[in-house]
Amino acid sequence: MKKREFQGSILAKTSKIIVALALLSFYVVPVCYAADPALGSAEAIRQAAAAKASALAKPPPGGHWTATAEEALEALKLNGDPEEGEDIYNVCAACHFPTGWGDPLGVFPQLAGQHTNVLIKQIADIRAKNRDNPTMYPFAMQIEGAQDIVDVCAYIQTREMNPNPRVGPGGQSWVLSNMRKEVWPISLDALQKEVGNDNFKKLKSLEEKDFKSKEDFLAAVSNAIGSGELEKHKALILKNADWVTDLTLGKKLFEENCVKCHGDHGQGNWQQDMVGPDGKKIESTDDKGNKEPAYYPVIAGQTYLYLLRQFSWIQIGKRRNANPDMVKQIEKFSFLDMKSVVDYASRFKMKEGDWQEVGDKDEAGWDLDAEEEDEDIPAHLRE
Ligand code: HEC
Ligand code: HEC
Repeated sequence: MKKREFQGSILAKTSKIIVALALLSFYVVPVCYAADPALGSAEAIRQAAAAKASALAKPPPGGHWTATAEEALEALKLNGDPEEGEDIYNVCAACHFPTGWGDPLGVFPQLAGQHTNVLIKQIADIRAKNRDNPTMYPFAMQIEGAQDIVDVCAYIQTREMNPNPRVGPGGQSWVLSNMRKEVWPISLDALQKEVGNDNFKKLKSLEEKDFKSKEDFLAAVSNAIGSGELEKHKALILKNADWVTDLTLGKKLFEENCVKCHGDHGQGNWQQDMVGPDGKKIESTDDKGNKEPAYYPVIAGQTYLYLLRQFSWIQIGKRRNANPDMVKQIEKFSFLDMKSVVDYASRFKMKEGDWQEVGDKDEAGWDLDAEEEDEDIPAHLRE
């Protein structure tokens, strides 16, 4: 196998430190975000979201959701070399894991199985600071250019998807989870402020414990802080612990709002033109009317909590590179809508034919000749 210098190789050896730092910065950033007084109440968040959504709907001067993706367009014309990509991926593996599955809590997303053009665009956006990712940014900047991007994506293509990703609760679920810090409109910081430090410390003993009924949950809270305190703060405690989803509602919302871009089973779309539910082609064009590649991610088989976070960040405009039409489409979703549609989507499985055929170089394909070793063929396309 070819070896090559990659600036990150020393870092790759200290992967544990990287992950620790990454987790640290990941949890610190959302806290600052939640502490922003302008975003204190759900209503304020909703207003900020509406303002950001309408600003996004009109492309900002000189900007567009794909405007900083020039590097992506360059990369899409190149062929990737999975062997070169493997060396680069050593650095990525520290956070996204050698499997490419990410982690079950969805801090680090699964990359395996994602459409290549989506990976390319996201990496280019992160490098261009068009998608905020302070955790990954220094590592993304070690990538030297379009060829490196396409090589690492070619390697990611050789990774099989996680067959058992973490799905949503699928119904009743009461849990006080730290993850809530990043998910609109819930913030444990607001809870701490209301119940006071002593009560909050006691509530922490319940953190991550999943209760299947509201009654059991309330009984546990009452045990922890006493029934008087519970009565005083019941509404906010329940709001923070409410992970309940409704899969029937999720199905309805998915079919009405998501199919045209993410496909009928969350398979996304890598093609130049999408095909709508009516079988007709939908042209994808930029604000100047030029054709652009479809950057519609696979959401099937991705970790529930990651999907939920991204969905909520897209809604409030925190993920700035989102498609403005999606932002508009989900503007009025309540927290229950959001959890339910994402829970429903997290249960989909990819099917044969959902991925780009490999080997067709006319379709921005990959340098994978028939004579090459089997392992160079993306795992999801192997027999
Ligand atoms: C220090 C940890 C870390 C390292 C190293 C890292 N990433 Fe990431 N990456 C993240 C985090 C965290 C996110 C999700 C950010 C968010 O929630 O918006 C992410 C997101 C992504 C995404 C977007 C996925 C999606 O579904 O939209 C891609 C693509 C990606 N990383 C590729 C890479 C590649 C390629 C490398 C190696 C060059 C790499 N990452 C290295 C932490 C890391
Ligand atoms: C108009 C097209 C469109 C519609 C409608 C749409 N999306 Fe999206 N969605 C996108 C695009 C494009 C992206 C990637 C944006 C980017 O480049 O950052 C995305 C990203 C996402 C992500 C983040 C994925 C990741 O890997 O980071 C989630 C989750 C998601 N959409 C869920 C949904 C759900 C659920 C619905 C329906 C309620 C929906 N979307 C409706 C186009 C759409």
